[in-house]
Amino acid sequence: MPTINSAELDLFLQTCSDAFNNQQLQRVVLSKYKGDETELKRITIRPILLKDKRLLSFLYEYKTNHITKNLPLTASLEFFKAELGVHFFNAHLLTNEWEVPLSVTKKGKVLMKKQKNKNQAPQKPENASHDRAKNRFVEQHRPYLRELGVTDAQGNIIPAMSRKWKQINKFIEVLSRAIDNTGLAKQNKVHIADFGSGKAYLTFAVHDYFVDKLQVETEVTGVELRQKLVDLCNDTAQKLALQGIKFEQGDVQHFKAQGINIMIALHACDIATDYAIHMGIRTGAEIIMCSPCCHKQIRPQMKSPALLAPLLQHGIHMGQEAEMVTDGLRALLLEAHGYDTQVFEFISLEHTSKNKMILAQKRKKSRDNSAILAQIEAIKTFYGIQEHCLETLLNA
Ligand SMILES: C[S@@+](CC[C@H](N)C(=O)[O-])C[C@H]1O[C@@H](n2cnc3c(N)ncnc32)[C@H](O)[C@@H]1O
Repeated sequence: MPTINSAELDLFLQTCSDAFNNQQLQRVVLSKYKGDETELKRITIRPILLKDKRLLSFLYEYKTNHITKNLPLTASLEFFKAELGVHFFNAHLLTNEWEVPLSVTKKGKVLMKKQKNKNQAPQKPENASHDRAKNRFVEQHRPYLRELGVTDAQGNIIPAMSRKWKQINKFIEVLSRAIDNTGLAKQNKVHIADFGSGKAYLTFAVHDYFVDKLQVETEVTGVELRQKLVDLCNDTAQKLALQGIKFEQGDVQHFKAQGINIMIALHACDIATDYAIHMGIRTGAEIIMCSPCCHKQIRPQMKSPALLAPLLQHGIHMGQEAEMVTDGLRALLLEAHGYDTQVFEFISLEHTSKNKMILAQKRKKSRDNSAILAQIEAIKTFYGIQEHCLETLLNA
């Protein structure tokens, strides 16, 4: 079938082009597909920023999976011109100012209306940039978010999942800043391990970030104790037709890994965090990111120093102190083993109680660690600590 030529189509393409150039484009949806790909339902196109380039991201929505392709504006307009009236018979353009539905009849006539966008108050440029800045690390329409139940079929956040959505965004924000200090975004392939991956919101998010945003080939392995979750996550990866992500049943304590660039362990229980950090150090990971939980090993060993006894007589204080000492020693051990380490609030307490993050980045040059080792010894002596799991693993 030949491509169509009409003043209406030209106006549609011009409106789209102007909106993109003025940063006013919200989306274009191509639908009513009549081609060979029987499972293709529609393509949703939105502007994205990729490595400082403004592009259009084409989300091909098939019955059971989704595929994304990114194109510059000129190639996108050529695609619209070549496909409308040939394979797609409806298009819907939405900008901050305009709503432009277009359809092509069986006889090839183009029907189009250019009307003011009444449904959405036009966004002021400063609001638009604020929104982009707020969520610029994760895009709401990504297919894995829908598959994991974070968003609904229209790409809206499901209210009960808003905390998870915030956590995913914050996690990717922290990770992306850490990546900026490494050469990982330019590497041919990156290996990532996520220990205690659970339902794998973050595992899918990190995979998507590398593959879709950074366009780097990535091998992500989620390691999880519970077989049911492993099966569920492998099924999800298959449904989404994702390459380079897999889940393995296993205990982080016995897992053997090699050549990991990024080690993630978020909320892996108790000393599982120590095993994960140890594996990150041993495999020379450039980034180690963990958010510890259930600090059981150190507390029973801690003797409250006489001066602190009146403070630590309260169970809650003792728990907080044990947590601080456990994680403080982890951070010092990482420092002693060649990592610049930060400990900070990962996400505000209002969203989760498990809110502490230890972020470690491998130093380019080694340095003398004797002073840090002496500090570790002094702290252990002060609190009467006999054993810290990470230290034992590192000394073995
Ligand atoms: C609280 S969930 C966190 C899931 C995910 N990392 C997140 O932050 O959304 C902790 C997960 O770690 C798993 N886990 C705990 N200890 C583990 C171990 N030793 N080896 C592997 N997985 C472990 C649990 O089964 C659970 O699914």
